[in-house]
Amino acid sequence: MENVIFQNKEWIDATWERVDKKLRKVAVRSRDKLPYTTIDGNHDNKAETNITWWTNGFWGGMMWLMYQGTRNEEYRKTARRSEEILDEAFKKYKNLHHDVGFMWHLVSGANYRITGNQESCVRNLYAASLLFSRYNIDGDYIRAWNGEEQAGYSIIDCLMNLPLLYWASDEIGDDRFRKIAMRHMDMAMRDHIRPDGSINHIVDHELDKVGVKQVIAGQGYGTDSCWSRGLAWAVYGAVISYIHTGKTEYLETAKKSADYFIGHCKKTDYLPLVDFGAPEAPVYYDSTAGVCAACGILEIAKYVSEEEGEEYTREAIRLLKACDEHFCNYDDKQDALVMMGTERYPHNEKAMKGVHIPIIYGDFFFVEALLKLKGNDFLIW
Ligand code: GLY
Repeated sequence: MENVIFQNKEWIDATWERVDKKLRKVAVRSRDKLPYTTIDGNHDNKAETNITWWTNGFWGGMMWLMYQGTRNEEYRKTARRSEEILDEAFKKYKNLHHDVGFMWHLVSGANYRITGNQESCVRNLYAASLLFSRYNIDGDYIRAWNGEEQAGYSIIDCLMNLPLLYWASDEIGDDRFRKIAMRHMDMAMRDHIRPDGSINHIVDHELDKVGVKQVIAGQGYGTDSCWSRGLAWAVYGAVISYIHTGKTEYLETAKKSADYFIGHCKKTDYLPLVDFGAPEAPVYYDSTAGVCAACGILEIAKYVSEEEGEEYTREAIRLLKACDEHFCNYDDKQDALVMMGTERYPHNEKAMKGVHIPIIYGDFFFVEALLKLKGNDFLIW
């Protein structure tokens, strides 16, 4: 019997070709930048405006993924350049936060694992130590952001920073990093992920004992709703923790959140809304949630029964095809690939500027998902 990937092979190969044809040009054009979004079709540059910005690793990470899929040297050169540019961020210690996983593991971690570069290994170990040091022993969580009023905050997004800790433990043969990552993952299952698989974005913890002071809506619509990208972080983050630890509860959690995600996307033709619990109108989409969740769902598919795996793969492909059809821009004169990303549910006019824009991690996860479908088993996380 033909499996679902085989049935979609023509679309997978053709889409990969289109992506490569475009990104080959963009990789050279944006070599000296750390892009976040675009202005009039051209990448902006966070290296100039905010070197410690949390998304600064996605561009280099995507270059490593393209290099894995093509072995085109231009991608490798741009990935290496982005790593050099990012060194400046290490000098701003007080501005760094828990997203050092996103920032360095996708760039230095990938470089080290692909090429064996020792300087990249050291950079990634420094980043891991920084993340490790943010663990609050009494409150039992990894602290997200800086500033006194945010001392008790953990956010669901942090699950995607944990691979940096798993890697560090493996690299130096010391379980300390892994144990902290698992403590945080266990906390997330208790305090962030609800019994139906939906999520709380921000949890404000007691500082000197284990306990929740309050739940905060964060980038979602409200405290009882479900921000879709936060849910995607939970789906992918939980399955990654399962892959690195073998703890079956993490896989069960990933499945529960994936089922919630898929169930809600079916209602909107696989085009994810920004929040699954927001009012029906106005309609705001977030392409980035769909492509990130698709990557997690494709990983889940590898660790369940063959029948279940086929079904998860089919759902991931539906999300990716919807993105391809409605959100992708293959014009190689424009720098962004995946349009219609949304930073947060817009409760006010100011937040509207982050609605339906291209965001670099939309491109990253679309590329990552295609690479998985092409059978490349390099897990960058
Ligand atoms: N980590 C912040 C976001 O997903 O927008």
